[in-house]
Amino acid sequence: MNILFVASELFPYVKTGGLGDVMAALPRAMRALGAEVRLLLPAYPALLEAVELQGEVTALPELMGGGPARILRAEAPGLPLYLLDQPAFFDRPGGPYGQPEDLAHRFAALSWAASFLGRVGDVAGWRPEVLHGHDWHTGLMPAYVAYGEGPRPATVMTIHNIAFQGRFSAALLSELWLPRHALTPEGVEFHGDIGFLKGGLRLADRISTVSPTYAREIQLAGGHGLEGLLAHRRGDLHGILNGVDRTVWSPAKDAHLVSRYDLKHPGRRAPNRPDFQRRMGLQEDPGAPLFAAISRLDPLKGLDLVLDNVDHLVSQGAQLAVIGTGDPHAEGAFRQAAQRHPGRVAVFIGYDEALAHRTFAAADVILVPSRQEPCGLTQLYAQGYGALPLVRRTGGLADTVVGVTPETLADDTATGFQFDWATGWALGEAINEALRLFRDPATWRQVQRRGMATEFGWEGPARAYLDLYATIPPEGI
Ligand code: ADP
Ligand code: GLC
Repeated sequence: MNILFVASELFPYVKTGGLGDVMAALPRAMRALGAEVRLLLPAYPALLEAVELQGEVTALPELMGGGPARILRAEAPGLPLYLLDQPAFFDRPGGPYGQPEDLAHRFAALSWAASFLGRVGDVAGWRPEVLHGHDWHTGLMPAYVAYGEGPRPATVMTIHNIAFQGRFSAALLSELWLPRHALTPEGVEFHGDIGFLKGGLRLADRISTVSPTYAREIQLAGGHGLEGLLAHRRGDLHGILNGVDRTVWSPAKDAHLVSRYDLKHPGRRAPNRPDFQRRMGLQEDPGAPLFAAISRLDPLKGLDLVLDNVDHLVSQGAQLAVIGTGDPHAEGAFRQAAQRHPGRVAVFIGYDEALAHRTFAAADVILVPSRQEPCGLTQLYAQGYGALPLVRRTGGLADTVVGVTPETLADDTATGFQFDWATGWALGEAINEALRLFRDPATWRQVQRRGMATEFGWEGPARAYLDLYATIPPEGI
C-alpha cells in the first residue's frame, strides 16, 4: 500500500519536540512491515543541505501567494521524501513556526501539495492511496481532497497535540484556495474562523491520536473546544501509543555518553552522573538524588509545579536540573531558582539534543508533571536509560508509567511515580515518595530494571496504523 505522511518536522533535521522523533521512526517501522511509506515536508534549508535530492516532481508558477514552488523527490537514509521547495515560505530564520504573518499560507501550501500528490502522483507514477497528515499544519489536506476533483485518496489525521489548532480569519478563505462552501460547520468553519485542525478532523476518513487515554480525554474536557466533534466521530477515532527508536535512544549505543551501559552492565551508568553534574555546574555530590526535566517550557507541561518545589527539593538534599526553552517567564523563574541555589539547581535554557541524552543517563528521576500530555516521549526515554519517570496521571503518561504501590512492587510491574492533581503540593507528595524509595537502593534498582526492560517498540504501533488504514472503505482508497 502506498502511503504519504505529511508533516512539519523530521528528526534529525528539523525538530522542536516529539513530532520530529515520531516522523523519523514511524514511517521507517511501517516500511519494515512492507508498506510503501513516503514523507512530504517543507524544504527547509537544513533538509535541503542534508538529504540526497533526486529531481523535480512538479513545478508550480504560484502556490498560496508564496510565489513559485516545486515539489522535489529526495531520500533520507531509509526514507523516501518529497520536499515542497518554496523559498518565500520555508527558507527563512525562526524555525518551522517562526514569523507567524503567513503561517496559514505556508501550511496551506504544504497541505495542498499533499493533495496534489494524492490526486496526480509523481513523475515516476507513484501515487499514494492514503494521505496521512500530522497535527494542525496538515489539517487542510483532507479539505483540499474533499473539495477537489479527480481520484480521491483516503485521508487520515493524527493529533499529536490538540492545544495547537491553527485558527485563522475567515477572510483568508480564497487566499487559502478554499471554496466558499468550505466555510460551514461540516467543513473548515470553526466559531466563524477557519480551523485547520477542525477541518481535518471533520473531513478525514479516520482520526488517530498518540495514546488511548488522550483519545478519551479529548472527547471530554481536554479537547480545547473540539470535544463535541471528536465525541461525534468517536467510532473513527483511535488511540495508538508512540514507541521509542532504539537506533537513537539506547544507552548501550549512545555516542553522547561518556560511559555506555545496559541491563547486564548497570554499573557502567555511574560515570555519566559526575560528567553531567560538571557540564551543568552542579556539585559532584554522588549521594544526592538528581531530579531533572527536559521539556518545552509551555504551560501545559506543568513546569510551574516544579518551580513550586525547588526549595523543597533542595531542603531534602536533592539536586535539580532543568533543560528547556519556551515561555520567557518560566525561563526567567528557573534562572532565578538556579541563582538562589548554586550547585544544587542548574538550568540550561535552549535546545541541545546531546545534553538531553546525557540527562537521561545521569538523572535518578525525570519529572514530567504535564497538565495534558498526548503521549510524551521523555518518560519513555527515561525508562530505557534507567531514570525513573515521575509523571502526572494524564494522557500517554498514564498509559506508559506504572506507579510505585505495594502491589506493583510485589508483582514487579512498577516503573515510576504518578500523581493526580496538577498542584505543587501533589507533585511534592510524589517527590517525597521518590525520595523514600531512593533510600531503599535494592527496590530502586528493581524499578529501574523493569523500566530498562520495557521495549516500547515501534512495530506494534506501525501495525496498528496499517490496520487502521485497512478499515477505510475501498471508495476512499
Ligand atoms: P513534546 O512533543 O510535547 O515536546 P515529547 O515528550 O513527545 O513532548 O517530546 C519531546 C522531545 O523533545 C524529546 O525528544 C525531548 O528529549 C526533546 N526535548 C525537549 N526539550 C528539549 C531541549 N531543550 N533540548 C533537547 N531536547 C529537548
Ligand atoms: C506532541 C505531544 C507529545 C507527543 C508528541 C509526539 O508534541 O505534545 O505528547 O509525544 O507530539 O506524538
